[in-house]
Amino acid sequence: MLAAYNYHEIRLPLFEETEVFARSVGVDTDIVSKEMYTFAERDGASLSLRPEATASVVRAYIEHSLFQQPGLTKLYYIGPMFRRERPQKGRYRQFHQLGAEALGPSDHPAIDAEVIEMVLVFIERCGLKATALYINSIGCGTCRPTYVELLRRELKKVESRLGPDSQRRIETNPLRVLDSKVEGEQPIIAKLPSILDHLCKACQEHFDKFQQELKDRGIGYEINHRLVRGLDYYMRTTFEITAPGLGAQDAICGGGRYDGLVELLGGPAGIKGIGWALGIDRFLLALSSQPSAVSAETSGPDVYLAWLGGPTRREALRLARALRQRNLRVEMAYDEAKLRKALELANKLGAQFTVILGEDELKQGKFTLREMASGKQHLLTESELFQRLTTKKH
Ligand code: HAM
Repeated sequence: MLAAYNYHEIRLPLFEETEVFARSVGVDTDIVSKEMYTFAERDGASLSLRPEATASVVRAYIEHSLFQQPGLTKLYYIGPMFRRERPQKGRYRQFHQLGAEALGPSDHPAIDAEVIEMVLVFIERCGLKATALYINSIGCGTCRPTYVELLRRELKKVESRLGPDSQRRIETNPLRVLDSKVEGEQPIIAKLPSILDHLCKACQEHFDKFQQELKDRGIGYEINHRLVRGLDYYMRTTFEITAPGLGAQDAICGGGRYDGLVELLGGPAGIKGIGWALGIDRFLLALSSQPSAVSAETSGPDVYLAWLGGPTRREALRLARALRQRNLRVEMAYDEAKLRKALELANKLGAQFTVILGEDELKQGKFTLREMASGKQHLLTESELFQRLTTKKH
């Protein structure tokens, strides 16, 4: 599905030099300071299991000079990530992400909207409902430092009423105080100044156009000015998608723009980037807590192929391959069975259709297609069969 948006798979190593994460995600972030599994090489070099993959994508993008490609380089990855966490529902030490990154010289807000459209289409196709998209802009190197100073000053005024984590962050990373989940801090945080009132003209324009691009695509969203995200490489657009049924860990996808990162890691200046990562474990939890998301009907094969009589086997094998080439999910008996038994099994497996190939059909060069829900049967030529099956597949 991501290929439809012209994304290509990149396979990344499970570990990298610690520097790659420290410099991109940020040494003061929880991910780098507390959550990485780090180990020393024999020569003293420090390596870490990847806590996320954006840094690795950017490292590979620079190392293989992918910036020489025309236009945007669009990459996706899937695999395990590692963070030292106290395991709980939806939060694991080894978890899995599907992620996508678009890198290149343009920061057009349509790219921001397109990456979001892509993940929303993916989520929708998998059948997860009632997700919510939250967006924000956290400004750039021009406007954010002034805002951060203002925030720090305001936080100092209320310091004694904050918990130890937030107190520490006033110095290290005041923005992170905004996404504190500590109950008692919420009324204090609600009164803090919003970054959205302090964006520079260029960031404001980018944020306005980004919202227009979402509207043009019919994508609903809510602005959350406290959405700062826990990784240092972001600038301007940040976003998260939440799903019901997950409790406190309800973010199934997070992402944003990271325009300075390629240069920071030693690549050429002027390369922009944006992407997201979907937490597969949480996504599956959300799907399974939704009663009708995956019904027995859709999880069964599209076609059960019943062949009846020795001479039909070879033709059945050929047909199974042809159906599978058309992206149909096909189950076929390895041993010969009677029609009644074959239909019983097709029913149990939840097949939508059974294709019956008996000796009569073989002689006529046709196939019987049985719709399992209604029991209706049709005698069809091979091309009629393909047409029916490919248009009826959901
Ligand atoms: P992140 O928000 O740290 O962003 O992670 C993205 C998603 O991974 C989260 O929304 C969540 O669903 C899942 N996730 C994170 N930690 C855990 C965990 N311990 N257990 C289970 N699931 C987890 C990133 O990783 C960025 N690299 C995303 C990105 C890509 N930004 C730009 N491009």
